[in-house]
Amino acid sequence: MRTITLPEEAVFRGSLILVNSRCPYREKDCGIALLPVGGEDHSPLLERQSARFLDKLIDEVGARDRIVAVSGWRSGAEQTRIFETSLAENGIGFTKKYVALPGHSEHQTGFAIDLAENKPDIDFICPDFPSGGICGKFRERAPLYGFVERYPKGRENITGIGWEPWHFRYVGFPHASIMQQRGLTLEEYHAFLKEHAYGQNPLLYGVSGRNIEISYLRAEKGGPSLLEIDDTVHYTVSGNNSDGFVITVWR
Ligand code: DAL
Ligand code: ZN
Repeated sequence: MRTITLPEEAVFRGSLILVNSRCPYREKDCGIALLPVGGEDHSPLLERQSARFLDKLIDEVGARDRIVAVSGWRSGAEQTRIFETSLAENGIGFTKKYVALPGHSEHQTGFAIDLAENKPDIDFICPDFPSGGICGKFRERAPLYGFVERYPKGRENITGIGWEPWHFRYVGFPHASIMQQRGLTLEEYHAFLKEHAYGQNPLLYGVSGRNIEISYLRAEKGGPSLLEIDDTVHYTVSGNNSDGFVITVWR
């Protein structure tokens, strides 16, 4: 066994952090490594691993010229500008439905991307990303590459955001597949994982002859948390952005 020390601030980092109207994004704007989608300088930026998986997914479905990245990482200042412009142009009802409050946008994390089908006149706030055709093919494969449709229809009361079929969030594999199979939003997935305490009853997920264990570790208050883990396993840790960590162990 080895002991890993997780600093207090690690709760607010990682690809599973939940950012919504109740949970602000706490990292500073420049704390994440970003890459342009498709490797082109003028393209929207995404967190490095998310950008690589998005590129692989787009290549796998043959959508390089058919799906356009409209908006990826946004600084806090950019989210404020988008919010205020929308407020002036579209009013409060529309803006609260489709633009997160500054400081509360997933776009500030680098893990969110708005996509459009490649057509003339792409709308910046509500781009058209239909359910069929090449976009449908993208949707089918997205969870295998770690992406979920973050604001589904009928879940507006849970996410606090209107239906956004264009907004995809990188949470990583197998989390995206589990969320899709169980029909869970990220809010619900975190609540569900709290029933799977680390070292007690992890959620089990089998794939390609490997067993993946997913569990929740509550953060120590006022200091670092210690993670005791088998020497031989591959594992990842993400904060949940409120009170603990999601530990993913590959056996
Ligand atoms: N459109 C999403 C909710 C955002 O502004 O982050
Ligand atoms: Zn978005």
